[in-house]
This record gives sequence, structure tokens and C-alpha cells, in this order.
Amino acid sequence: MGKPPINMDLFRTKSIAQMREAAANSGMAKTLGALDLVLLGIGCVIGTGIFVLTGVAAAKYAGPAVTFSFILSGLACALAGLAYAEFASIVPASGSAYTYTYASLGEFIAFIVGWNLILEYTVTASAVASGWSGYVTGLLLSAGLDVSHALTHVPADGGIINLPAIFITLLLTFFLIRGTQESSKLNRILVLIKLAAVFIFLLLAGPHVDTANWSPYMPFGAQGIAAGAAIVFFAYIGFDAVATSAEECKRPSRDVPIGIIGSLLVCTALYVVVAAVLTGVVPYTDLNNPEPVAFALRYIGYNLGSALVGVGAIAGITTVLLVLLYAQARIFFAMSRDGMVPANVCKIHKRYHTPYIVTVAGAIFVSVIAGFAPIGLIAEMANIGTLSAFTVAALGVMVLRVTKPGLPRAFRCPAVWIIAPLAVLACVYLMLHLPMETWIRFIVWCVFGCLVYFGYSYQHSILGHQKEEPRAKRKEE
Ligand code: ALA
Repeated sequence: MGKPPINMDLFRTKSIAQMREAAANSGMAKTLGALDLVLLGIGCVIGTGIFVLTGVAAAKYAGPAVTFSFILSGLACALAGLAYAEFASIVPASGSAYTYTYASLGEFIAFIVGWNLILEYTVTASAVASGWSGYVTGLLLSAGLDVSHALTHVPADGGIINLPAIFITLLLTFFLIRGTQESSKLNRILVLIKLAAVFIFLLLAGPHVDTANWSPYMPFGAQGIAAGAAIVFFAYIGFDAVATSAEECKRPSRDVPIGIIGSLLVCTALYVVVAAVLTGVVPYTDLNNPEPVAFALRYIGYNLGSALVGVGAIAGITTVLLVLLYAQARIFFAMSRDGMVPANVCKIHKRYHTPYIVTVAGAIFVSVIAGFAPIGLIAEMANIGTLSAFTVAALGVMVLRVTKPGLPRAFRCPAVWIIAPLAVLACVYLMLHLPMETWIRFIVWCVFGCLVYFGYSYQHSILGHQKEEPRAKRKEE
């Protein structure tokens, strides 16, 4: 056990001035503009949520009214996104909600947020890998190949193991360790392919909408819409990744908010239209399958169109998975830099210069979860972890407005005393619509996090061993 910390405060905060200075000197190239960020947001966001979970949510929770579930969830994200954007413009440093919380609500809460972000990235990546598997298996089956059900489905779906999900996770991990990063250009191309898949679906399926399929429109009532919103929230996860690239933006104060809100608007519009067409073409009761969008096209006889959309979906889902696996290692890295997790976990590979241990460890967790757990259950865990981080971020913005009113805020959340509390309410509302088992798993995860914090991080925190800054320096914050 290390020396006891000099600063014993559980809520010790990082200096924003120091973080700004570190960000300014980080040496990262500042090349991204607002449009890059909107595309980056879309790149991180559109994936398994729209291509798979729309079907699950319509069949099991909301019926055709899943369109309203998307609007409700998108609204919660927009509110939380505005708070996020203010945070990002105050602390233009990498690390997302974890970093921002460290500067506002203090170390302990920041640790819990970081801990939940690890949960978010790990389980989200697992659900995305399952979605990838669903489309690849569907494509192989439509090509007439004899794919084993047992080896492509988890036990809850009548299989033994989801091997394609494990395969893609390990393959992308290999690329990540070799240092393959998504370049802005490659991201643009893949975003275009993904959007093309969505538009091909809309063009082919749109004319086949039969309004009789929209009746009953709300088979599970308003409660069903809310439960559906809690599930399809998954489709929006990732838009906050835009905020983490503040250090690489030309004008973070302007570009980050445009990136967040812009990508959210585009995605909500697409989700609502896709959900409406999907439930208009296929009776919602038939949509609980691993590749509902491709299935819908086959249902109306477009086999080639279905294959094209399948390929686009696979390309799109792959980029989301790559970003998630990368982000998971990055958040671990930020936490180890602060002494929250042991530094050797984040050892850098001598030849490839990447944090290989944490990347492989993360991939093993993702593979095990994706290989054996059903996608709906994993997505619920991802949602509760992310919603809790958004709730804390919205609270943090209000705390900073009170405790550090003089901070330069390049982007100010409009009507913050209405929007931030509404963001908290909306996120908590969605969380309350997740099943009890999800809550229990989440609480167990948080308790485990507290044990790690008090057993290790509290003593080893770098900030805890720093002398207090002179008051004069802190005053400017
Ligand atoms: N929003 C991402 C997806 O739907 C995680 O795949």
C-alpha cells in the first residue's frame, strides 16, 4: 500500500486551469472542424441500435409507437448533450464525463463515473458485436451457406456460443494493438456507406408501407413507449464521443456543441423514419430477430437490396465497434494517468506504442459477454451505465455554475436552470424504465467500484499526493 495521501478530501477536484494548460500543450494536431465532428458523431452512433434494437423494441415494448420512443430518447440526449457541450467547452481535454466530473464534483464521483463509462464501453461493444454477428449470419444464410445455429447464437437464443461476435472483437483488437486508428478520411467513407444502407432501405421499403401494420399503434400503451425509449437509448450512445475530441478541434467552443447537437438531430430524424417504415412494412410482432432491417427487405421480396443493406450495416457496425474498443482503452488510460488504476495495466507496447494490456483485457471481457449473453440484456446494462454518467454530467454543469461562476465558458448551455434539471429528470426517468435485474447488476457493479476506489485508488491518486495549489491560482477558476 502506498503512502497516505496529503490531500485527504474525498471530493478533491482537479484544477481546470491546469487541465486547460495540459490540453493546450498536449501536442495534438488541431485539425477537426464542425462538419468532421458531426460525421464523427454519426460514425460513432448509427449501428446496432437502429439496425437491430429497433426490431426488439417494437416487438417487445412499444409496437409501431417505437417512433415515439426514439423521439423521447433523442430528447433526453439533446438535453444531456447541451450540458455535455458546456462541460466540453470549459474543459477542452480528452476523457469525457470522467474528466469533467473530476473538475467539478470531485474525485470520488469522477471515479464512479469513469467506472460506469468502462461498463458502458464494455457492454456497448458487446451488444454491437452481437449486432454484427446477426447481420453476418443473416447474410451467410441468405447466400445459401449452412451456418450452425449453435455456434452463432447465445444460449438464451437456443445456441451455445456466438462465435462471429467473438471473432470480430478479437480481429478489431488485433488492429487496435497494431495501432490502426480510424483516420478522418476513412471515417467519412464508412459513414457514407452506412448512410447509403439506411437510404437504400428507405427507398426500397418506403413504397411498401401498409398503414394497417400501424394498427394498433400503441399496443403496449404509454408505458410501452417509455420502456421502448429506455431500450432504444442505446442507438444514441456514442454521440458524447464528440466531446472527447475537443483537444483536436480547431475551435472547440463552437465545433463541439455543433457536433453534438448536429449529429443528434440527423440521427433522430433517420431513426424515426426508419422505425416508421420498418413497422409499416412488417407487422411489429415479427420484428424480434437479429437483423430486422435486412429481414424487412426480404419480407417484401428484395433479396439483393437486403444483401446490400446487410453489407452496409456490417460496415457501419464495424466502425462503431472499433471506436468503442478504442474508447474503452482510452478511459482506462485516463484513469491510470490519475493513479485510479495501476499504471502497469496501461503499459505501452514497445513496438506499436499502444496500451496493449488494457486493450486485450477489455477485448476478453467484451468477447465473453458477447459470446454468451443476449443482446437485449447487454444493451440495458449499457444504457443504465451511460444514463448515470449523463445524469452526473448535468449535475456537474449546475455545480460549476454555482461554485465557479467566473469560468470562461465558450459555450453556455441555454436556460441552464431549466435544461440541466430536465436532463437529470429525463435520464433518471429512462433509467427507471429499465428492468429490476438491470438495476441490481448496476448496483453490484457500483459497489464493486467503491471497493476498488477505497481499496486502491484513494491511496494511489496522483491528485491526493499533490500539494494544494496556492489560492491565488485557484481563484481565477
Ligand atoms: N449507438 C451505437 C449503436 O447503436 C452504440 O450501435
